[in-house]
Amino acid sequence: MQEYNLKREEIFVTTKLWISSFQYDKALKAFNASLRNLNLDYVDLYLLHWPQPTYRRDAWKVLEKIYKEGRARSIGVSNYYKHHLEELLNEADVIPAVNQVEFTPYLYLRDLKNFCDDHYITLEAYSPLTRGRKLDDKKLLEVAQKYNKTAAQTLIRWGLQHNIIEIPKSSKKDHIIENSQIFDFSISEEDMALLNGLDEKFYVGNWNPTLDRWK
Ligand SMILES: NC(=O)c1ccc[n+]([C@@H]2O[C@H](COP(=O)([O-])OP(=O)(O)OC[C@H]3O[C@@H](n4cnc5c(N)ncnc54)[C@H](OP(=O)(O)O)[C@@H]3O)[C@@H](O)[C@H]2O)c1
Repeated sequence: MQEYNLKREEIFVTTKLWISSFQYDKALKAFNASLRNLNLDYVDLYLLHWPQPTYRRDAWKVLEKIYKEGRARSIGVSNYYKHHLEELLNEADVIPAVNQVEFTPYLYLRDLKNFCDDHYITLEAYSPLTRGRKLDDKKLLEVAQKYNKTAAQTLIRWGLQHNIIEIPKSSKKDHIIENSQIFDFSISEEDMALLNGLDEKFYVGNWNPTLDRWK
């Protein structure tokens, strides 16, 4: 931040609580350590990384505490599916702002998206570019070519038109620029339907969304 002369409010910092620290005291310590390591007074979004079965309710209490203290401006969850969210919403004082899950046309979690919409939880897509694994898919490329865009841009635009937040990652300047150039076109309803139809429960992360467990 200092190196680039950025003000704190100009950046949005998200970090997560790792599953080995979900017990109440450990979670508080882990959050304090994150703030220290980041050299920040607050984060913009703090997430529970995974619906750890034994301590996920305790961990959410810690997130509510740090939210109420203003040390996290928003709090959310990750890899939560409908039943995890139902459990949380039954007990929570604070509704999660975000649920970060893997979400692409190849893993089109329509029911989860609808559930999140109904409960004012914003869905955030991790690995929105399938870590590159589907960028040469013929059907995706056919749509991309229609709009004179790349496969990566088409995937990001697809997510944008589903009103989700996406966090494509790249270590290359050219890719980062390319991935930002998605506001000058719109995918037609017909092509959105075609992309939605690519769902094959394909996922690249370590979390198996259909079996609700690690791979
Ligand atoms: N909550 C969770 O459990 C969870 C799990 C997994 C990931 N995440 C988060 O999600 C974010 C992104 O996910 P991810 O890194 O797994 O996958 P991703 O964003 O789908 O894919 C990243 C890969 O795509 C390549 N890429 C990026 N832009 C490209 C372009 N325009 N053309 C071709 N290739 C391109 C990158 O290579 P180059 O570097 O060469 O561009 C990199 O190999 C990360 O911040 C990660 O921390 C969260």
